[in-house]
Amino acid sequence: MKILLLGKNGQVGTELQRSLKPLGEIIALSRNEANLDDPRGLTETLNRYAPDIIVNAAAYTAVDKAEEDQASAFKINSEAVATLADYARDSGILLVHYSTDYVFDGEKPGAYVETDTPNPQSVYGRSKRAGEQAILDSQCKALVFRTSWVFSAHGNNFIKTILRLAAEKESLNIVADQVGAPTSAGLIADVTARAIAGYQAGAIKDGIYHLTATGETSWHGLASQVVQQALANGANLKLVPGDINAIPTEAYPLPAKRPKNSRLNTRALSSALDLALPNWKIDVNRVVDQLTKKAP
Ligand SMILES: NC(=O)c1ccc[n+]([C@@H]2O[C@H](COP(=O)([O-])OP(=O)(O)OC[C@H]3O[C@@H](n4cnc5c(N)ncnc54)[C@H](OP(=O)(O)O)[C@@H]3O)[C@@H](O)[C@H]2O)c1
Repeated sequence: MKILLLGKNGQVGTELQRSLKPLGEIIALSRNEANLDDPRGLTETLNRYAPDIIVNAAAYTAVDKAEEDQASAFKINSEAVATLADYARDSGILLVHYSTDYVFDGEKPGAYVETDTPNPQSVYGRSKRAGEQAILDSQCKALVFRTSWVFSAHGNNFIKTILRLAAEKESLNIVADQVGAPTSAGLIADVTARAIAGYQAGAIKDGIYHLTATGETSWHGLASQVVQQALANGANLKLVPGDINAIPTEAYPLPAKRPKNSRLNTRALSSALDLALPNWKIDVNRVVDQLTKKAP
């Protein structure tokens, strides 16, 4: 089986190169080798490799920059995804794609289920929702995983920012009224491999699924956990968890509006694949260990 992996250098793409290996031959391409900004080039790439499965981990993920760069966000997150979906439909192959909690407005009191109506509040969220819609409209074979608050030891993310800031500053102000589940790229990649195998075995059907770690926290809770674990590893920080102040979203204005409730209900995916998704703290601690534990 030939798997075409797009976005191989991203957080999720890097982990997919590992997790998809047992499933077949992986053709992993970077932005330079398959630019989602170039529809003609993308089609040529698809025709050249003629994959059995496409896994698209590439995306325009600069949430705030997207507010001023709507055309690029939509080109990459929606128009290119439509090209992939049309190719998948015409060739009868499976497309695996990722979406986001930002397709919701965050106003729901409980965790979002897959059938809840999206209402994105940012350009990024709208562009990702348009990508989902393009896949649904194409009626190709597809698994779309909505995830949230992605982190890994590789790439840029909140955990790495907190570790850097905690080494420089004696206190931090972190938003405490946005709630979600930090989810490791490793978990997303592992579950993706399991879902592809499950799809081929008929255990899981086409559609959109929520894929996050279990439990919930705020950005403030996540920052506190990161600092606590780093200190336990002997990291040289200038602050302790008590020096991290909880602030409201309004006190830290950003160009793109974020949902206050990012909780995604993962029951559909876990029951289809018979999965026990781990609590968010497990992988947060593991990644902080990777970043701060000194080699013996
Ligand atoms: N990060 C999050 O917190 C989060 C939350 C919810 C959902 N998601 C979704 O999860 C998926 C994976 O996210 P991630 O965190 O792994 O993202 P990431 O680390 O930002 O990686 C995105 C990858 O896409 C590539 N890319 C960007 N523009 C491209 C283009 N025009 N053509 C080809 N490749 C391009 C980037 O290439 P370069 O390496 O060259 O920049 C990068 O390797 C995405 O669909 C994202 O929307 C992410």
